[in-house]
Amino acid sequence: MSENKVYLYPVWVRFWHASNAILCLLLIFTGVSMQYASLESPLMSFALAVSMHNISGILLTIFYLVFIIGNLTTWNGKYYRQRIAGFGKEVIKQMRYYSYGMFVGEPAPFKINKTRKFNPIQKMTYIAVMYVLMPFIFITGWALLFPEIIVTRLFHFGGITLTSLFHAVLGFFVSLFLIIHIYFCTVGHTPTSNFKSMVDGYHETHN
Ligand code: HEM
Repeated sequence: MSENKVYLYPVWVRFWHASNAILCLLLIFTGVSMQYASLESPLMSFALAVSMHNISGILLTIFYLVFIIGNLTTWNGKYYRQRIAGFGKEVIKQMRYYSYGMFVGEPAPFKINKTRKFNPIQKMTYIAVMYVLMPFIFITGWALLFPEIIVTRLFHFGGITLTSLFHAVLGFFVSLFLIIHIYFCTVGHTPTSNFKSMVDGYHETHN
């Protein structure tokens, strides 16, 4: 079996990703603490959870701008472009691999190389999370930081209540993504090879 290394994760992507992962974990922990902890049995002090949540959210927004600017100005952005033609067939092929092929030792249907960093399902998920889910969580989070900009009432509901509900639901989806993301990161060539790539920048291709 021949083995080659391809450099796919430049320093700025690894730096952004590590900061993003740590901040998201902090936001989930402090968010859950604010949502569910009571004064009698706090997961952590409510005031501390609020401060940490606010600071992490502000930092996450700044790092998100690094991701957007990086993807607009470097080669990395090309990995997030998706052709519509043939997309459905590609997703089905990858789904079949994830649900059957990989358990019987079939080779992955989409080889990773310099021009293709993500398989179709990975790409679709990353686009949805980074370009849809994250912007909405930022918008609702910043609105809650400056509640005076939120409409007072929408139909029969308070604007702030609706915004915080929406924000919490989005946070739930980010948490769900994180669990699925980490699981799929373990189904590389070996369970740790994708994590190694995010540390040293190199993806190992095996033929
Ligand atoms: C403990 C938390 C996390 C771990 C261990 C982790 C692990 C990894 C690993 C191993 C990769 C490389 C494999 C691949 O390209 O798919 C990766 C890539 C990626 N992860 Fe994560 N991740 C974490 C959190 C997150 C979070 C919170 C987000 C977004 C909200 C995220 C978004 C991404 C994206 C967009 C990529 C592709 C980056 C690029 O190469 O352009 N990750 N992650």
